[in-house]
Parts: sequence; structure tokens; C-alpha cells
Amino acid sequence: MAGAPRLGVDYYPEQWPRDRWEVDAGLMADAGLSVVRIAEFAWSRLEPREGAFELDWLDEVIGILSAAGLDVILGTPTAAPPAWLIEQHPEILPVRGDRWVQQFGHRRHYCPNQPAMLAASDRIVRALAQRFGSDERVSAWQIDNELGGRCYCAICQVAFHDWLAERYQSLSVLNEAWGTAFWSQEYSAWSQIPLPDATPVPDPGAFGFRRNAPNPGLALDFRRFSSDSLIEFLKRQVRVLRESCDPRQLITHNLMGFRFPEIDYRELAAEIDVVSWDNYPVLDTTRRWTHPALAADAMHGLKQAPVWVLEQQVGPLGWELVRSPRLGEFRLLSWQAITHGAELLCYFRWRTARFGTEQHWHGVLDANGQVGRKYDELRALAKELESVKGMLEGVGQAADVALLHDYDARFALQAQPTNPSLAYEETVHTHYEALRRLGLGVAVLPLGADLSSYRIVVAPSLYVMDESTAAALAAYVEAGGVLVLAPRTGLKDRCNAVPERPLPAWLDELLGLEVTDFMSVPQEEAVRIEGASGALDGELHGWYEQVELTTATALATYAGGGFAGSPAITERELGDGKAVYVAGAADATTLGRLYRLLCGRAGVTVLDVPSDVELVPLAREGQKLLVLLNHSDEERVVQLGPGDRRVHLGRETDDGGLHIEPLGVAFVEGESAQRGARSAVADASA
Ligand code: GLA
Ligand code: ZN
Repeated sequence: MAGAPRLGVDYYPEQWPRDRWEVDAGLMADAGLSVVRIAEFAWSRLEPREGAFELDWLDEVIGILSAAGLDVILGTPTAAPPAWLIEQHPEILPVRGDRWVQQFGHRRHYCPNQPAMLAASDRIVRALAQRFGSDERVSAWQIDNELGGRCYCAICQVAFHDWLAERYQSLSVLNEAWGTAFWSQEYSAWSQIPLPDATPVPDPGAFGFRRNAPNPGLALDFRRFSSDSLIEFLKRQVRVLRESCDPRQLITHNLMGFRFPEIDYRELAAEIDVVSWDNYPVLDTTRRWTHPALAADAMHGLKQAPVWVLEQQVGPLGWELVRSPRLGEFRLLSWQAITHGAELLCYFRWRTARFGTEQHWHGVLDANGQVGRKYDELRALAKELESVKGMLEGVGQAADVALLHDYDARFALQAQPTNPSLAYEETVHTHYEALRRLGLGVAVLPLGADLSSYRIVVAPSLYVMDESTAAALAAYVEAGGVLVLAPRTGLKDRCNAVPERPLPAWLDELLGLEVTDFMSVPQEEAVRIEGASGALDGELHGWYEQVELTTATALATYAGGGFAGSPAITERELGDGKAVYVAGAADATTLGRLYRLLCGRAGVTVLDVPSDVELVPLAREGQKLLVLLNHSDEERVVQLGPGDRRVHLGRETDDGGLHIEPLGVAFVEGESAQRGARSAVADASA
């Protein structure tokens, strides 16, 4: 982190009268803001008729903002194709999974493969790039807005056939890989291959069958193709921008955190200079603090580099239903995003809309344009960040643990969700929560990332496996790492077929076991496990497996159910490394016990803090810096014990207690930050 993170807002000058622009710029500057993102939905104002560009007003806005000391991030406006374009080329409208054609009147109403859309996108992006590509006042470009959606139009079908032909080279290879002998699905021409129906819908009357259950190979490839289509659409804009823009202007896109399931964000991230994302914690009804934290860590993990939050929640939000953040939560959630790697936060939006779908999505200013509480809170935060910027200089993530995720596994499970206790996003979240509750820093990384610097690697849902991934995991363990795998690992190959191998495929030897049977039961049904003199007692829910050990030993065994007495959590030692298998869907408490034990053995310090206090370990040149975020509505006290340290923002009392106000934040800095916290916050590994 290069000093104080920058703050900004998302501004829609085209939605407000011209004589308001200076007022807004002045208020932004007075609040201590330095960045503004604009124009990402302004297509109809920028090109009111085909090829007739009106960019002077944008130039004027940029001038006004820049004169107030604000740096501009310019959006390409393709998420909202104008009415004239749709009238000329109605084929641009996307066909959704139920074959409904999305109409004009909302946004994201385009197919990323339609030639007319690509031509129109090239044209508007080129016009903007040629006008502003060497403009000193513009520091970055945001491509489109929150890419997403799967299109089922005829052009996409042809593009899918080409995509398949390139991937498989011949139909016989495809028929083999997908196993199309099943139900007479063999193809003798590419044109016969259908688009799979959309995500399976549970049918209550259908005894566990689901509607829309296509060939799993087809279903996985269509999801990959849809993801690639959007990434290709983005790459095309990147190319047009790079033709005319100064390399000083960075190119980014605003992603949607960990929960967004349609695009392989690892592949998308490789195409842009900076990963940006949009952070709306209060949209998550569970209100777990781990929800935005996981999103932030996953976005940071895509490039393992600082990110920008281009939309950070500022107030109550919703299109129909309004959800309010707690008073004061604004600051806490900002600090959370910052300490998880954001070097820029733009608040969505500057002013509450008077018109349009988002009238209930509240901005820094209310719809009446007056400053009020939210404006004051933002200004106070800007001041606070300025006052502690020295402390943030050179600070970065400190993680002993890596949590791996994989879009192929995720896409494959979308096509066949199986037992709800194995749901992809929830499974990753549960492991993340268990780790973070022990005060651990967790790097959330896409499959393929370098694992060598992590003491523990957790990969809870590698449902799709291949030989080389398995070899990389084995190499990590051989080099002394602790690897944790969980049920249904290696059930499928990369074509979503079941490999003809012992389970978990390609990993059975590394784990020293074979999965021989399983029980799939309602999620509420639990089986108890016992182990390591009580330290590993716990529960598995919904799904649990029987394993036969070859070289592994049992850490915990089933205390009931059909597999009573047989191993439930196992460990195989390999040199200094260990490969651990959790044979069922464990809850966060049970996983917490396992991770406590594994950390203790690996010499990784775990800390006991109240469950609503989030501890974020950071590092600066080998020195630890602890951040404590109090997500509760009450003051929390954390005992730090003796040691030299500096405390910022929190209040320290003589007895060594660190008092953190409700929804408050505290920083502990100094050579004893690590040791002090370790000795006093109860070192559970001891
Ligand atoms: C997304 C979009 C914004 C806005 C918000 C709220 O994050 O990027 O343009 O629409 O949702 O709906
Ligand atoms: Zn299409």
C-alpha cells in the first residue's frame, strides 16, 4: 500500500443539470476525495446517433472535476446500448436461458458475440480513446460495467460450435470426452450440438430429478464458452484502448466479488492492469463479516496485488427492498476493504438518483442534493486516512494460509448441484470462516497460483481434477506443506466425466486412502466424529464418506452412523509435509478445531478473539501490524498483555486491554504487535 488509500465517488453528470457540476466537484474536493469514476452508462449522450459523437460535454465535466483536483476514471459505456442501436439491430438483444429475449429498458441487454454489437462497441470505445487517450486528466479506464450473463442466441450457438471445434479438433474426440453414447447423444456434425438448458431447477414434484439436466460435458463447456465470450468482449475493448491510449492510463474492470459465478475471474484478471470490484456487504442477508472479507481476499488473490473498489456501499440500498447498513458501519466496512488490499475506494453513488431503477440506492448526498450525515462520515474518513497514512505505507497482506478455488469445479457443480451441503460458494465460505475466526490471514487464490510461501493450503472443493494439478499439489506437500482436501475432490475430469480411477482421482496416493462409499442425507442430518482426545470432536452434515486407508492415519473417526468406527479425518505424512482429508461436509466449528490443531503442529500462531471481532494480520518489511475490526454493536476488549507497541484508533487501558468501540477499528503496531497479541490473546497452539 502506497500510503493513504485514495477515496472517490461514482458520478453521473449526465443525470444532473449542467449548473450543478461545479457544485458537486467542489463538494467532492471539500470532502477530501481525489477520484471520480464517470460515463459508464452514458452511451446515448456520447453517441446520440450512429457515428455522431458528442464528447464535448464529457470534456467539460472532466475539466471541472480535474480543476477541483479530482482524477478521472472513464468508463466505456457498453453496458447500456442506446435505443437507436437496438432499433437498428434488434439481434443485439440477448436470449436468456429460458429463451426469453431480454428487451430494451434495463441494461446489459446485449449479446457479446453479435457482430453489430462488436462493431458498435469498437466505434464508441475508439472515439473515446482517441479523444481522451492522452488526456492527463484521465488516469484509468473501466471497461463496460460488471460483465455477466449467458446468451443463447443463434450467433452464440454457432460461436459455441467454433469454440468446441477448436478445443476438441474432431467430433470423435468430443463424443468420446462427453460420453455421448449415453442417451443417443452422438454428434455427426458440429451444427447438431445444442445449447444446454439453463441452470437446473429443482422440481418439487419430481422425486429428486431436476429439469434441465444436460450432458455434464456440454454443460461445463457452455459455461466456459460463455465466460470466454465475455472475456473476449473485454479483450477487444482492451485492444482498441491500447491502440490510442497512453500506457500511463491503466485499464480495469469492476468485478463482483467472490459470489459472482459466471466468469472465470482468474482469466479475466489476466487481461487488465488492475483488478477492481464492487462491494455491497449489506446485500448479503446473513450479515457475516466474512462475506465481504472473502470477496476482498478473492479479488486480491486474482493478481495477488492491491485492488480498487470502484463501488463501495455508502448508504441504504436496494431497487425495491431497502436494506440499511448500521449507523457507523460505513467507516468499518471501508476499513475492512482497505485492510484487505484496496488502495482506492469509490463510493456508489455520489447522489441518490431522482429517476430510474435506483431511486432507493442511496448515495453520499440524498436525492435533494443536500449534504448530510453520509457526506460528513465520508469527510471524516478521508481525514482519518490522511492522519494515519504513514502507518499504511508499505503495508501488505500477511497470510500463512492459502485457500484455493477453481471455476471449472464451480461451473461443473452448477450443472449438477448434488447434495446442498456440498454447494460450492458455501463450502469455500465455511472453510474461510473457520480459518479467519482463528485470526489467520488467508490468501484466497485461483488454482494454479504459486503455493510455496504458504504453510497450509486448503482446497475444499476441487471437484474437477487433472493429473498435472494433482502433481502440483503433491509437490507442495513433498516440499513440506500441509494440504487439506475435502469431500468430492477429484470426482470429475476436466471434461466433467468421471475418471476410471480410485477416488479422489489422481490424489488417492498422496492422501494415502481410497474413498469406498458415501452417505448423502438431508443437510440437517449430522454424524458425529471424535478424535485427538476431544480436540477434533465435531459434526459432518449432509454428506460423509467411508475411506479405506493405505498409508494415511486417522485423526478422527465416525462416532455413529453407518461408518461408525472408521476414519473421518485422515492425515498422511510425507517428509515434513502432510496431506489431510476431511471425509464429510464439516461445519465451521469442526473445521476450526481441525485448523487449530494443524496450525499448532505447523507452528502457525492462532489467536482467540471474540467471534465478531475480525483480526487482519498485515506486514511491513517483515514486521507485523495487527488490525482489529469490531463488527459488533458493543465495545469489545481484547487483552494484549505486555510488550512495546503503538495503538492507533483504539483505546488502550493500563491493564493491557485494547478497547475497540462498537463498529470500531484499532491498529496495533510495533515490534511486539505479534508477540504481544500472541502471549495475551491466548495462544491456542500452546
Ligand atoms: C452494480 C452496478 C451499479 C449499480 C449498483 C446498484 O454494482 O455496477 O451501476 O447499479 O449495482 O444496483
Ligand atoms: Zn448471443
